[in-house]
Amino acid sequence: MTDTTSPEVAALLAQLTDAEKVSLTAGADAWSTSAVERLGIPAIRLGDGPHGVRKPHDGSGMSMFDSHPATCFPTAAALGSSWDPALVRRVGEALGREAAAHGIAVLLGPGVNLKRTPVGGRNFEYFSEDPHLSSRLGAAWVNGVQSTGVGASLKHFAANNTEQRRYGIDAVVDERALRELYLAGFESIVVEERPATVMAAYNKLNGEHCTENAWLLRQVLREEWGFEGVVVSDWGAAWDRTLSVPAGNDLAMPGLGARDDRYVLDAVRTGALSREALDDSARRILELVERHADAATAPVDPPDLEAHHRLARQAAAAGTVLLKNDGGTLPLQEGVRIGVIGAFASAPRFQGAGSSHVVPTRVDTLLASLRTALGTDAVTFAPGYDLVHDESTPAQLAAARHVAEEADVAVVVIGLPEVFETEGVDRAHLRLPDSHDRLVEAVLAVNPNTVVVLQNGSPVELPWRRAVPAIVEGYLGGQASGSAMAEVLLGVSEPGGRLAETFPLSYASHPVSRLPNGPVTAEYRESLHLGYRYFDSAGEEVEFPFGHGLSYTSFAWSDVAVAVSPSGDDVTVNLSVTNTGSRVGSEVVQVYVHDVESSVFRPEQELRGFAKVALEPGASEAVSIRLPQRAFSFWDVDSRSWVLESGRFEIRVARSSRDVVWRGDVDLSGQAAPHERDEPSAYRAPSGELGFPVADFERLLGHPVPPNVAPRPGRFTLDTAIRDMQQTWAGRVLRRFLARQAVKTIGAPASAPVDAVAGEVVAQLTFRMFPTVSEAAIGRRGATRLLSVVNGLARILPRRRG
Ligand code: BGC
Repeated sequence: MTDTTSPEVAALLAQLTDAEKVSLTAGADAWSTSAVERLGIPAIRLGDGPHGVRKPHDGSGMSMFDSHPATCFPTAAALGSSWDPALVRRVGEALGREAAAHGIAVLLGPGVNLKRTPVGGRNFEYFSEDPHLSSRLGAAWVNGVQSTGVGASLKHFAANNTEQRRYGIDAVVDERALRELYLAGFESIVVEERPATVMAAYNKLNGEHCTENAWLLRQVLREEWGFEGVVVSDWGAAWDRTLSVPAGNDLAMPGLGARDDRYVLDAVRTGALSREALDDSARRILELVERHADAATAPVDPPDLEAHHRLARQAAAAGTVLLKNDGGTLPLQEGVRIGVIGAFASAPRFQGAGSSHVVPTRVDTLLASLRTALGTDAVTFAPGYDLVHDESTPAQLAAARHVAEEADVAVVVIGLPEVFETEGVDRAHLRLPDSHDRLVEAVLAVNPNTVVVLQNGSPVELPWRRAVPAIVEGYLGGQASGSAMAEVLLGVSEPGGRLAETFPLSYASHPVSRLPNGPVTAEYRESLHLGYRYFDSAGEEVEFPFGHGLSYTSFAWSDVAVAVSPSGDDVTVNLSVTNTGSRVGSEVVQVYVHDVESSVFRPEQELRGFAKVALEPGASEAVSIRLPQRAFSFWDVDSRSWVLESGRFEIRVARSSRDVVWRGDVDLSGQAAPHERDEPSAYRAPSGELGFPVADFERLLGHPVPPNVAPRPGRFTLDTAIRDMQQTWAGRVLRRFLARQAVKTIGAPASAPVDAVAGEVVAQLTFRMFPTVSEAAIGRRGATRLLSVVNGLARILPRRRG
């Protein structure tokens, strides 16, 4: 029992039998916790998340397409570039209201994993490559959702940064990178906002599955950060509750039926699973039910879906990033004839594919919104490319050229179709579909006054960017993204966003592209040099830098001053921001810290504070940004604690990581003085040529990297991905079979282009996932036996067929 345990929960716990406690540690089905009717303990429902509510019509089913309509807010990629915690909080509150109206007590979000690599298939579900920005927005999301009584689920804990082999990959991360980056994004949200649940990720972290990782769940999350809520497994991530419960994973989701409780109960009876660990988990689940059941069952006013749609539009505009705007091409002048080109203008991509897929209450398209605003005759249209296949017919290109020629300005709408970007698969490169690039070139050739509008969840290469005067990044902006973009193009709204991630020149120019990712481990050899931290330290060119985004108005920053607190370890940056242009607009003040002298290597600079201010023309506002001690500290691997070293730090007040407006030094007094430590130059002065050699990484890790070789056929393990069994006959058959099953399970309509990606998505599966993906038709024992059969076949059949 803890100090916060209510007498009611204590009394219930005392009455529960072992079997009932065991039943509580797994769901009753895909979405509900288990009830104990004898004692009046209700089940509560959990549901995706994160940018809209997904409640399948078939209450316990896994369908991703057949769910109740709900507002599809901008994805985290778009919310991330808003840099606006207050707005994200409002989105959270609206999400909470919709969740409650659907009887959902815990909404599965936010996703606060860092975008370690620009090819991450799930980057659209995450806010940023920077832990400070990510945690500020994630905290606001949690605060908003939980203000409605609905609980949040902070996910995916931790280092879940690749979709490739996502169920079994072992993220090998050094302690500083973990503490300063990958855990930092979660830490402050846990401490400040107390999310109801934290979701343990599929992957392994330094050798242990996150769901079985006592260091992660017990020591760090509970003991160090004081987390008192429930740890829930990602769906299917808890394979063996006799290991996951003692490690601190309270709730295994989805439930696999009463049959699956037997081995856990046996373990309790033999003492293999301690009653203490079981009691702890059961108590926490009772507390979760006690706190959040009412939110989902109490009568609530139906959510105001009109207001939520308007909020979705506002958030989409706030996250829209004006990447380029030569000669004031945007906003469009009144009376211009607009040629809209690109199928996404009428059939937009506005959300990502996978578990976060929402059936929207309505969808605004850019084409219809422009025509509503300007009249149908003022806006001509040509689709220009095929939505599913990466090709344009000569007729499509000819029609596009014709529309562009006749117009004063061509608005070309392109991006990443779902088959290019989805949960479950990483991209192989950052290129747009060829047909989209060709279309831009074809249009530019006949009308240089071209604006490119992008719909995509993560960075893309823009090979024609120098020739195009204006480029607008809309990300996957939710169901109102079309009207939001129309308002931005017409200047009714401003493009309020700044990039929350670096746009590299290409994938090959990104350090992670050159590091081992599979078959067994992902080596995080770049350590702290993640995203802009790397590019700025190495001084390498990027396509667009972190923090970048233009405005329709102009701003002046004045009276910048930094003040060190009397304690000597805390800094406040003050300045005044004035809107010097003629339009309403918002500015994002970004504060980076550069450590001038340090014992340990540090990236060139790190974002430690920011503020967004919206100003009328001519108006000024005083901005004050506090940088606490942690903003200057590093994780000291010797003392296993945060250390602030006395000395000089440079404060950089900036518009982006590459556009520093003001620099000034502060001298801080800390617990230690800088002293020379022998560290590899790959980290002190990273560069593309040097890379991150394994020997240097091993010095950071303090031990050799684990072996990274796929098991031979016949020796596959529960963590071997189906993709690594493709040299065997059984592996190939399994992949085909699973792809067919997956398409049925998610209930994709015939029009959805899922077939092409299903084979890729299921290729990541491991046998550990079989009980979940078979909806318990195959149990743990069945999955283990099947694995033996596959291994056996591989041993006896000749290599080519086996
Ligand atoms: C995803 C989670 C999601 C869960 C339930 C998993 O595959 O990784 O983010 O919340 O499914 O749909």
